[in-house]
Amino acid sequence: MDQKVVHPFANVPEGKLESLNKLQTQFKNDSRVNKVDLMCGIYQTEEGNPYVLPSVKLARQMLFNDPKWEHEYPSSHLGETEFRDLSARLLFGESSGIINENRLASMQTVGASGACHMGAMFLRAHYETYKSKPSGNVYIPAQTWVNHPNLFHAVGFETVSLPYYDASAHVFAFNSFNEAIQQIPTQSIVVLQVCGNNPTGCDPSVEEWERLAHTFKSKQHFAFLDLSYPGFVSGSVAQDCAPIRLFADANIPLLLATTYGKSFGLYGERVGHLCMPLPSAEIAARVEQQMKLLARAETGAQPRFGAKLVTNILGNPWLKDIWEENLKAMALDLARRRERLEEALIERDTPGDWSFVTTQVGMFLYTSFDQEQIEYLREEHSVYLQDTGRLSIAGLNPQNTIHVAESIAKALRRRVVTTL
Ligand SMILES: Cc1ncc(COP(=O)(O)O)c(C=O)c1O
Repeated sequence: MDQKVVHPFANVPEGKLESLNKLQTQFKNDSRVNKVDLMCGIYQTEEGNPYVLPSVKLARQMLFNDPKWEHEYPSSHLGETEFRDLSARLLFGESSGIINENRLASMQTVGASGACHMGAMFLRAHYETYKSKPSGNVYIPAQTWVNHPNLFHAVGFETVSLPYYDASAHVFAFNSFNEAIQQIPTQSIVVLQVCGNNPTGCDPSVEEWERLAHTFKSKQHFAFLDLSYPGFVSGSVAQDCAPIRLFADANIPLLLATTYGKSFGLYGERVGHLCMPLPSAEIAARVEQQMKLLARAETGAQPRFGAKLVTNILGNPWLKDIWEENLKAMALDLARRRERLEEALIERDTPGDWSFVTTQVGMFLYTSFDQEQIEYLREEHSVYLQDTGRLSIAGLNPQNTIHVAESIAKALRRRVVTTL
């Protein structure tokens, strides 16, 4: 008798994607001409097109003009050595003792997703406090990049939410967050974004960072720092990186997961960097050896093209100057887009206080709109926000801002009328 052969994947469950995937398809199929995509954190031109930075175009040309450019594997599993060195100097500063004393372990990664993943894998295997725990907790702000919980779950951590956002004042809920990290066990792993917080647009102030550093230090917590929007807040990478330097100088154990996808507009080239400042060169060498083993097991070699572009830019002072100008211009432009939206909302007497549109920073505005309002904007006006109420400022432009503001005003007035 024939035995019915069941394919090993026949019973694979469908899996639940985030609502964003569904919304992107809905947006694509929306035939209305005034549709607006405010879902993705991708800087676009005023015409709503992809933006290639002038400095990146020049770096690309340099690479194409280089007769020695070849397609060998990178010299190390850790990625392009020059890229890692230049990136470390950018993030920690030229005069950093950590770099000059060879106390920084680092590896190139596949964007910040890859840096977070490799960082989580490294912690799972080597973080002394958690090594004996079958499922350790990682503490994550309740409002964060949607993928943070996924990537920790994927390597066997449990995640616990920390209060982060004060919805009534539209600011970082410093007191609640600081209190919460005082209550959790000592030596916990705590995730924090360095600047341009996704999705809230709310970062701790300089003074709040100092107080957080104090709590991290006294509780001996491990800081899992995600730096995905360097330069998008102040226009200066050094200024936006100040919290990293503060934590590193205070000898708080930390790792830094960085992407250059955003600040160089190299989203699809997947240029990331995972760094860990360590107490000595000898420990850093051992950690790097483990990173090498991890890289081999996970992805083998790291992609070279994007890393080469960043190397050309950071390694040539004249080109670095141009990139710094490009970055400053993007940050300034995002700030202007915020101002235009705030003005347009106020001009239309939109119910509420809209000052938070310009006090929040970076690429995102956290609107606190409820689900009904978000759906109303989408269904009635083709204005697409993420289901969390995150609005990407990067998708606003002079052509669509009035339509967005008018739609928001209608959504909010509707609520005022229906709640009367
Ligand atoms: C906070 C944060 N971390 C990580 C990432 C992932 O970055 P990448 O695309 O470089 O993997 C993003 C991307 O949106 C992000 O916003």
